[in-house]
Amino acid sequence: MCGIVGYIGPQDATPLILNGLQRLEYRGYDSAGIAVLQKGEIAIRRDVGKLNNLMQLVQQEPLNGRIGIGHTRWATHGQPSSRNAHPHISANGRTVVVHNGIVENFRALRDELEAEGVRFQSDTDTEVIVHLVQREISCGKNVTEATQAAVKLLRGAHAIVVLSADEPDRLVAVRIGNAGGVALGIGEGEMFIASDIPAILEHTRRMIFLESRQMATLTRDAYHIQTLDGEPVDAEVHTISWDPVSAARGEYRHFMQKEIQEQARSLTDTIRGRVDFQRGVVTLPDLTLTPDEAKRLKRIVTVACGTSAYSGLVGKFIIEEIARIPVEVDYGSEYRYRDPIIDEDCAVLAITQSGETVDTLAAMEEARDKGAKLWSIVNAVGSQAMRVSDGFVTMQAGPEIGVASTKAFTTSIADQYLIALYLAQQRGLLTPDGPDMCAHIDDLAHLPDLVGTVLGREQAIEDLAAELYQYTNFLYLGRGINYPIALEGALKLKEISYIHAEGYPAGEMKHGPIALIDEHMPVLAICLRDAVYDKMLSQVEQAKSRGGIVIAVATDGDTRIAEKADHVIYVPDCPPLLSPIVSVIPLQMLAYHIAVWRGADVDQPRNLAKSVTVE
Ligand code: G6P
Repeated sequence: MCGIVGYIGPQDATPLILNGLQRLEYRGYDSAGIAVLQKGEIAIRRDVGKLNNLMQLVQQEPLNGRIGIGHTRWATHGQPSSRNAHPHISANGRTVVVHNGIVENFRALRDELEAEGVRFQSDTDTEVIVHLVQREISCGKNVTEATQAAVKLLRGAHAIVVLSADEPDRLVAVRIGNAGGVALGIGEGEMFIASDIPAILEHTRRMIFLESRQMATLTRDAYHIQTLDGEPVDAEVHTISWDPVSAARGEYRHFMQKEIQEQARSLTDTIRGRVDFQRGVVTLPDLTLTPDEAKRLKRIVTVACGTSAYSGLVGKFIIEEIARIPVEVDYGSEYRYRDPIIDEDCAVLAITQSGETVDTLAAMEEARDKGAKLWSIVNAVGSQAMRVSDGFVTMQAGPEIGVASTKAFTTSIADQYLIALYLAQQRGLLTPDGPDMCAHIDDLAHLPDLVGTVLGREQAIEDLAAELYQYTNFLYLGRGINYPIALEGALKLKEISYIHAEGYPAGEMKHGPIALIDEHMPVLAICLRDAVYDKMLSQVEQAKSRGGIVIAVATDGDTRIAEKADHVIYVPDCPPLLSPIVSVIPLQMLAYHIAVWRGADVDQPRNLAKSVTVE
């Protein structure tokens, strides 16, 4: 949570930093601030609320400088307010800091500094950092040494950027633990810092990602990376392949709408390059799995949070059916609070769009400590999750900016399908170019087309949303592989429209939720023509007989359902194991349009953040 941007170079730093913050606003929008070095002095503008407020302030009181830092905040310590907004400045006005993370021992540090006479101007934990750095500078250290000494006093996980007016030609960035990434962008005679790739992607594709306990000192032309103990680091420079245009909203009203509509393309990108359609083979070299290891594998444990966890639940069906390996799915936030049973024939698969969700990372650490093989499915290339894994598969979704995850959900399911095929191939269950493998590959090849067909039906969903947006409770039902889609559909609705929605396994409806059903309760049933079709049909009848308003997601041409449900959303017939990728799309669109009808802030829903880097 919280977004950080830093710039040093020949350009006007203010628009560049504000533009970067705009692309990071999904990480927090309680307040925003910027500091630039202007005629040798630090000048700050900060405001509560969304970035727009800060932008207006900067218009009224312009800034001019070639080096600066900015921040968009998701509040942890201290109310969202202008005085608690970052950047925070030292008492002498010479040093300024932006921070992502929580200073766990801030109370003790604050007491110590106050005893030394420091007067605090905010209620934040961050402010201790700037006073600690300034204290070291006042003792004669340069800004790198001062930051190094100061951050060693902090407990917790942090991403920090420091600017000192006494050394106007450099920025210092630090990463400790999993408080969010620190990407360094290397330009021509200019350098960038950002919490996440999209903030600086239009300026450079060459990036370095700081590891935990590393710090960087950036000048316009050079970077120096070292550990907190002062050991120089020879960091790898990654070239990011994401297209900067895809990180912009373009013609769409919201990023979420754009990202929903991108799914046919992102799925194509996910499948392409991993499937050899000629030879009938799946290749996943980055998973680093030998045929021997594949044969020995006895169990997969998937760990993830939020939408990514629901993707894992779908993946369980796919991997168990195709590769015949048992899969358990657990929340990252729960996994380490028991004593998970892991051995070396178990692989732990983390699914994370951002690659920096702190609970998922902590679950990965737990698994690593217990000796599991560690895999990840990630979207953010170079992220922490990807770096700590033994093997990985990328989502290829491109930047996902909308807080409610959409294309990362479908591409991560496609990745799990690829992993299932790959494992089955390595374990001798599927023969390359054999009829079963070819059938699977054929299904994958047609998937983007099926998704494209559903995406083309957005208008019908928008019309349906107009009829439903005033209801205040929804029940989503699914069964089998589409049960997780009921969970995900309900999650999408509550996240962005603030409507209470529950996802439930359809067969369990009669053990509780049926008591809720009346004429005020829309019941959304995923009722495709698959193995559980008849069972779902009878759930629909039960919901109807209690007066519920039934909306069914059904297969094209199904007339039986049309006689029973109040509304039908049709999707093309699709292979059962891939059906969740198709059936979730109308639910994403429905949540989106209901939220728009309700006037909600779709891309920045209240209280949520895209990357959750606090526990
Ligand atoms: C937050 C986001 C969700 C996301 C979840 C997990 O809650 O709002 O959209 O599914 O984090 O994020 P990850 O990056 O680990 O997939």
